[in-house]
Amino acid sequence: MGVLNILRMFEVRQKPDMVERALVVRLYFDKSEETESASLLAELGELVSTLDIGIAESVLARSREMHKKFLCGTGKAAEIVELAKAHECDVIVIDNNLYPSQQREWEKLSDLCVIDREEVILDIFAKRAHTREARLQVELARMQYALPRLARMWGHLDREGGGGGSGSGGGGGAERGMGEKQIEIDRRLAHMSIDRCKRELELVRKQRKTQRKEREKMETPHGSIVGYTNAGKSTLLNLLSGSDVLAKDMLFATLDTTTRRIELPDGQPLLITDTVGFVRNLPHRLVEAFKATLEESVLSDFLIHVLDATAPEIMRFHDTTLSVLEELGALDKPVITILNKIDLVEDPEILERLDRDFPDAIRASSLTGEGMPELLNACSHVLADRVARRQYRIPQMRGDLLHLLHTDAKVLSTDYEQNDILVSAVVPAAIAGRLSSFLIPV
Ligand code: GTP
Repeated sequence: MGVLNILRMFEVRQKPDMVERALVVRLYFDKSEETESASLLAELGELVSTLDIGIAESVLARSREMHKKFLCGTGKAAEIVELAKAHECDVIVIDNNLYPSQQREWEKLSDLCVIDREEVILDIFAKRAHTREARLQVELARMQYALPRLARMWGHLDREGGGGGSGSGGGGGAERGMGEKQIEIDRRLAHMSIDRCKRELELVRKQRKTQRKEREKMETPHGSIVGYTNAGKSTLLNLLSGSDVLAKDMLFATLDTTTRRIELPDGQPLLITDTVGFVRNLPHRLVEAFKATLEESVLSDFLIHVLDATAPEIMRFHDTTLSVLEELGALDKPVITILNKIDLVEDPEILERLDRDFPDAIRASSLTGEGMPELLNACSHVLADRVARRQYRIPQMRGDLLHLLHTDAKVLSTDYEQNDILVSAVVPAAIAGRLSSFLIPV
């Protein structure tokens, strides 16, 4: 009940469902930040559109220095509010992270709903989370975001109370007390809900760990597809596995990890996991919240980094993804980079630049299939040194395979059963493909 209470307040005041027209704003402070800020502003526009909110205008505003009250100066803030009013906007979305007190000041000044990038992303995540784990992660992140903002939700009680008279009359004081008491109650409820959510998450994670252990027992190699949101990760997984993962032209179409089993050309089985897309300035609490989801990439044998070859900002997207992965400790494993959507790139100059900037990357298209054989070969190559414990049923007449196992693998035990030999061995991936049809499934 506590959670609902808090989220309801959270939503009543801010839920972008209830707003239709936005002024989106990015503030920057130094000339050198201009280009990056412009591209962040464009990305914010896309994020806001993902929530079905129309954009009246995008404003890139420079402020000489950071101010405590509005982040920018009072004059600039007033100009922005005036513009929002002229456009009849019902929400101002500011790309920069705002302190709760700054958010409050903006709302007081404009009498509009004012949200920041983190809140937009939280709302998108809330809409897209499907599994229990993803829902819990988003719920936790939203409550942690809402907690320091509770004063904002109940501010009206105090304002209304104080508004009756400027003196410190008993009536005004009692009303003020009501607001404060309410905040205290909600804070306590919020802490309780956060603790409950964490406990539930712990349970779900334990279950996932068990599933992962099962998978490890099978010792099937495992690759994770990582990359910026909308790069084409789900489409790639669908193509490789012939499956039907949600692939849509929208940001964060997939929030939950999906794992599929495929077979490499040398016969070796491979598990491939699609992971959540990255985005610049992903709120830190969301990185934290989704660590468990991204853990898949930390634990896999290698990564397939999907880049959108059509994105003018490809290098930035590349760096963002790698820096988050580094933060997760996932960069110590081989990375196969693919330049996806290459079917859409016709300009030879761009192709040349891509080859220059990403000399080891594979040109690929998850729509036409271009580059897939190279990608699968690269996967086999990466796994060549990997060894796995396997069991085989080999006909006695296949002396060649028995010889291969004794020379290139470490045989642990052999058993005879009718005309077959049951062999348990630690086998390098390089020869696993030749033995795959004799594998006994675990
Ligand atoms: P998130 O779930 O946001 O992380 O996105 P994603 O990386 O999983 O992207 P997704 O597979 O949903 O693809 C995004 C859009 O790009 C979809 O409209 C796809 O049809 C399109 N797309 C993906 N790969 C290709 C490609 O190689 N060529 C072309 N032309 N379009 C592609």
